[in-house]
Parts: sequence; structure tokens; C-alpha cells
Amino acid sequence: MTLWHGRFETGMSDALWDLSESYSFDHVLWRHDLMGSRAHVRGLGRAQLLSSDEVDILIQTLDAVEQEFASGVFERTPTDEDIHMAIERRVTEIAGPVGAKLHTARSRNDQVATTLRLYTRDALTDVMSRTLALASALHELAGQHPLVYLPGYTHLQRAQPVLVAHHLRAHAWALLRDADRLIDARDRLNISPLGAGALAGTSLPIDPATTADELGFDSAFTNSLDAVSDRDFVAETLFGIALLGVHCSRMGEELVLWTTSEFGFASLTDDFTTGSSMLPQKKNSDVAELARGKSGRLVGNLTGLLVMLKGLPLSYNRDLQEDKEPLFDSVRQIQLVLTALTGAYESIVLHADVMVDAASDPLIAAIDLAEWLVERGTPFRQAHERVGALVGRSVREGISLHELVSDDPELRPAVELLARGVALQRRRSAGASGPLAMDRQAELLETALVAGIQRARATTTNNVVL
Ligand code: ARG
Repeated sequence: MTLWHGRFETGMSDALWDLSESYSFDHVLWRHDLMGSRAHVRGLGRAQLLSSDEVDILIQTLDAVEQEFASGVFERTPTDEDIHMAIERRVTEIAGPVGAKLHTARSRNDQVATTLRLYTRDALTDVMSRTLALASALHELAGQHPLVYLPGYTHLQRAQPVLVAHHLRAHAWALLRDADRLIDARDRLNISPLGAGALAGTSLPIDPATTADELGFDSAFTNSLDAVSDRDFVAETLFGIALLGVHCSRMGEELVLWTTSEFGFASLTDDFTTGSSMLPQKKNSDVAELARGKSGRLVGNLTGLLVMLKGLPLSYNRDLQEDKEPLFDSVRQIQLVLTALTGAYESIVLHADVMVDAASDPLIAAIDLAEWLVERGTPFRQAHERVGALVGRSVREGISLHELVSDDPELRPAVELLARGVALQRRRSAGASGPLAMDRQAELLETALVAGIQRARATTTNNVVL
């Protein structure tokens, strides 16, 4: 029998049960549900709805149930519809009649919203920390290769030389923005729905502000309808993770390219590559491909949630139960991706010679010739045309650009710009790709990473390992 059987003459059909039960996936919320229940019980005590003995019994029972979950012995019974009912059922079994008071002044609607916010708060902190760990690995790798450069690409065509440190740190900056977004979402979700009841609050004298405080929320809800129906925090979390996943997919794609024989810019170590079941010579960059591939389902989870939310009338609707699987899935998948990518970057071997050779084609310094003319008074458009004509001739007639520039009386003094590495040295404006601008960037990134890590630590309220 379910805990809500009173009004019904028959039980649920098997078909409806199979459709509606959520224990099979929401059992992962046990820790956060117990947290919410403990705060609720203390609140009922303060409201004199429970005696202090009853509070003690219920708290001890909730602790005992927590032990059962933690040690893996908690057993679901066939009528446990979801994690919330399973816990209440077990509390009542252990505590006896007082168990029947646990759900006083509470509905599963405010209970599930509270539980999910507590879970999401920890999940965001965890994902943020892993994001910063990946950004730190990129920053470290950059620091290990201060002088190596490679072609920077636009349209995947070689464009200008850039330090590999600059390139790797570009990814780190995107990850820092992701971490920021996650923590912003975390700050915004930190409002307690507990006490909103089914949708309209309660006639009983509870104080939502105190339970909110006890659970580490910044405040309690101000509108009970909004409190039980708001899933913005799930949407924001899924967006933050989806965009983070898109950034990881970009890194994944790059690692796939870099580790091909065609590029040859890098090798992943044996522990971060896989073999082929048929072709003995194969060493595949699956870590990178999965980082790229997982982004699809992360975007799908966000889209699915938004479509589910669209058009729902106030306030709680059972559709909202569909918020959980995409959330759990996105959190789990991004955790896997971030940790594996971090490991891959921590052990990757960069092939400096290949990178530098690829970036040393004199044609890559064409813009430097044009800018040299600009410094001497030629309007940029004319300089561009002039150098473009030389490059065109070089390609068409197979004469090196070096030779053509040496033969040009006006451009001859600029021939040194075509030498290896010179173009890179000249990228010295703030935020540019050369070594002179890099020190400042490395410093700024270091500071931003330390600040991010401190922010992540400061917001770990429950310290729950997910
Ligand atoms: N498992 C449900 C959910 O995740 C709990 C809330 C059920 N509330 C209800 N009124 N049926 O949303």
C-alpha cells in the first residue's frame, strides 16, 4: 500500500506504477532528502508540532536510515514510489507511531524541490571544481612549453603563429567562464522551497526562514506557487553543463586532430588511448572522441528539460518528475569527461618540432610584411594588396617569398621578418599570441584560477561527495 492510499479503493495498475515510480533513478537523492527531513523535523519541534522527545526519536531514526543507505543495506519495498516515500516508510517502521508525524506541514512537492536544490548545489560545486582542475592542467601544460609555437588557425587554415601556451590558455579562459556560470547558478538556486507545502503553504505554525537557514540556503521562498514549480535552477545547470560540454568537445576535436599522423602535433600516452580489436597498429584517441561526442547528449538533456517545462500550468505537475534523469545524467557525464580530459592533458606529449615547423612557413608572416609597410606610411589596404600580389606570385611561379621580397627594393629591409620565429616575437600587443604578452596573461590566469578555486571552496556547504 502506498502512503497516500486513504482516498482510493483499489491500488495502482502495474502499467501506471511502472510509468510513475521514480525510485529507480531518484534513489541517488537519499542524502539530500535526509538533510531536508532533519531540518524539517527540527522546524516541527520549534513549532511545537513535535515534542522534544519526538524530535530526538525522529532525528535518530533519520540518522539510522542514513547509515543503512551509506552501508548499502537499505532495502526498497515494492510500494516505495520514490526516494521520499521510501525514507518515510522506513522511518515509520523504525520509529513507530511518531513516524506518522514526519510529513506534518510538508508535501512531496516542497520536499522534492528542496531535495533537488540541495543535490544541485553540491553537484554544481563538484562540477565547478573539476572544471577548474581541467583549466589548471591546461595552464600547467602551457607553463611547461613557454617557447613552443604552432600555427594558429582560422577556417582550419594556417593563419598566424601562436605560442602553444597561448592556444592552451584560450581553452582555460573558456573553462573559467564555465566555472563562473556554474557558481552563479548555484548562488541563484540557494533559496529554500521547504514550507511551501503542496502549493499554498500550511495552516500550521512552521517557520520556513529558520529551516532555510539551517540548510545553508540564503533565504526561504516568498511565493509558495513559485517555490514548488520553479525548475529554473535545473535549466540553468543543464545549460552551464551543456556549454561546458561544448567547450570540451572543441578540445576533444582538437586532440583528435593533433594526434593524427597528418598533424602529428601531440601523442596521448598509452593509458589515455585505446587499441583496435582488429588492427594491431591502431592507437586511438577515444578520450578525445568521447569528450566530443558526449556534448550531444548534454545539449539534448537541456533541450528535453526546456520542452518539458514549456507550457506547464502553475504549480506542481507530475511532468516535473522528468527533471531528474537529464540532470543526473548531465552531472555524471560531465564529471567523467572533465576528469578524463584532465588526465589526458596531464600526460600528453607535445611534439614541439612538428608544431614549430608547421608554423615556420614564410607565408605565415605575410601580415608582418604588410604591417611593416603600414609602419612606413602605406595605407593598410594598399599594403595588403601589395603583399598579397607577392604571395600569389610565389605560389603560382614557385619562387620563394623570401626571394621575391629580397628582389623588391622597397621591401628588401623587411626580409628578416620572414625568418623562423620572428613573426611570433612581433605579436606583442596586450592579449596577443607572442612571448612578450604571455607573461602578463599567465599571471592573470593564475590569479583567476586561484580566485575560482577559493570561490568553489567557499560555496561547498554540504561537502557531499556525489
Ligand atoms: N517523485 C515525485 C517528483 O519527482 C515527487 C513528487 C510527487 N508529488 C505528487 N504530487 N505526486 O516530482
